[in-house]
Amino acid sequence: VPVSPFEMVIFGATGDLARRKIFPALYHRFVDGQIPKSSRIVGVSRSEHSREEFIDIIHKNYCEFEGADTLDEKSWKAFCALIDYVKIDVVNDKDWSALAKAVSKSQDLIRVFYLAMPPSMFSGICQGLKREGLAHEKARVVLEKPIGTDFDSAHAINEGVAQVFEENRIYRIDHYLGKETVQNLLVLRFGNVLLEPLWNSNAIKHIEITVAENIGVSGRGAYYDGAGALRDMVQNHLLQLLCLSTMEAPSSLGADDVRTEKIKVLRALERITVENVQSRTVRGQYTNGRVNGETANGYLVDLDVDESNTETFVAIKAEIQNWRWAGVPIYLRTGKRMSSKRSEIVIQFKPVPHSIFGDDTKVNPNKLVIRLQPDEAVKLFMEIKEPGAGGLRLKTLPLNLSYAANFAVRYPDAYERLLMDVVRGNLGLFMRRDEVEAAWRWCDGILEAWEKTGQEAMPYFAGTDGPRAADKMLAEVGDAWSES
Ligand code: BG6
Repeated sequence: VPVSPFEMVIFGATGDLARRKIFPALYHRFVDGQIPKSSRIVGVSRSEHSREEFIDIIHKNYCEFEGADTLDEKSWKAFCALIDYVKIDVVNDKDWSALAKAVSKSQDLIRVFYLAMPPSMFSGICQGLKREGLAHEKARVVLEKPIGTDFDSAHAINEGVAQVFEENRIYRIDHYLGKETVQNLLVLRFGNVLLEPLWNSNAIKHIEITVAENIGVSGRGAYYDGAGALRDMVQNHLLQLLCLSTMEAPSSLGADDVRTEKIKVLRALERITVENVQSRTVRGQYTNGRVNGETANGYLVDLDVDESNTETFVAIKAEIQNWRWAGVPIYLRTGKRMSSKRSEIVIQFKPVPHSIFGDDTKVNPNKLVIRLQPDEAVKLFMEIKEPGAGGLRLKTLPLNLSYAANFAVRYPDAYERLLMDVVRGNLGLFMRRDEVEAAWRWCDGILEAWEKTGQEAMPYFAGTDGPRAADKMLAEVGDAWSES
């Protein structure tokens, strides 16, 4: 279904995110007939380019990141007719008039300002939009993560943006919320009656959330070294996955119903402090190793620096202090240059209370694996009898709901869904201000404890799944990360 015609102004239009994700996403939505031809897309950046040069840049990048074979020249030409480019240095007040001239004068058109810029610039840009009279009633703003580097900076950014846009016109992106399987998590939990009675500490032993990447950070070192895995991934993506996996059933899919349930989880997270940080967290940093059969440099070489204590891997044992989850460890783990790219949520059920099969027969506890990438699937591991008359042997096999095996369709990138939701005015898949701030409060506790205790990032070889200490953290309480 096409959305209403809109005008999207993209700040940071020549930046990595815009070139890799935003423009390809808009092109795909255009090809699918969702973007009306009367819509406009205005790229804004401080580089000097003509409109044609800018279009050449995004064409080249599209082909590089998405593959030239996925581009249809006729559709691309039609798509480009929507695009314009304006050079503005946002910190220079005089430049802003160029933007005011480039956007339509209509107050009826839905207008989206996408800030694919460093968060320290969000407030200033919003002030600029207000000054130029561009933030009219139908205008909304999209903020890219990370929003701040801690609670105080996030709060200040949110305050600045709130002076121009009301909360229901602010779309804080966490692109994990646009992923197919993340939404499927809601369907799985609340569209089936089978799981919910077991979804608590009576039946569940622990939960694991792993977001592993095999890429390093070269090219993004300047940002990454000041951030680290906790700020870059846990504060947003992993905590969002945790909330959706553990929240109570919202009364509807309405944006505030879901977001209110998520924030209750964030507020119930047990704080990690100086006293328990050593046993509850592991920090790691990759050294040289091998990834996918090829040698890979260590973090310091990637960044060309002599030393850094930034973590490129983090593992955390979290706990939600409420009736449903008290006593259930929730293990979070994410890192760069790990053995493979995979994101999954593992629900590890408790063993049967008593085995009737005798001491020699192992009865593996059930396990539910919700795999977000690379191959979306939900697998419920069950015990069944191995066929044969030679005795009773048990085998663990999955009930496998594989997306690829069931749906022969193209899976839209998360940004495609999220961008269209902004135009539709659907806030459900975006983070509310209090959510972002609550997530920071919890992460701040960890950051402070790390600083006070001087907890070091332990080395791990590129191509492995983090420092051994991450395995030990679970082994000490009789747990283990589930095998991929
Ligand atoms: C981004 C992080 O938010 O998510 C990156 O800043 C990370 O460091 C990326 O690589 C991972 O996203 P995806 O969709 O590839 O899992």
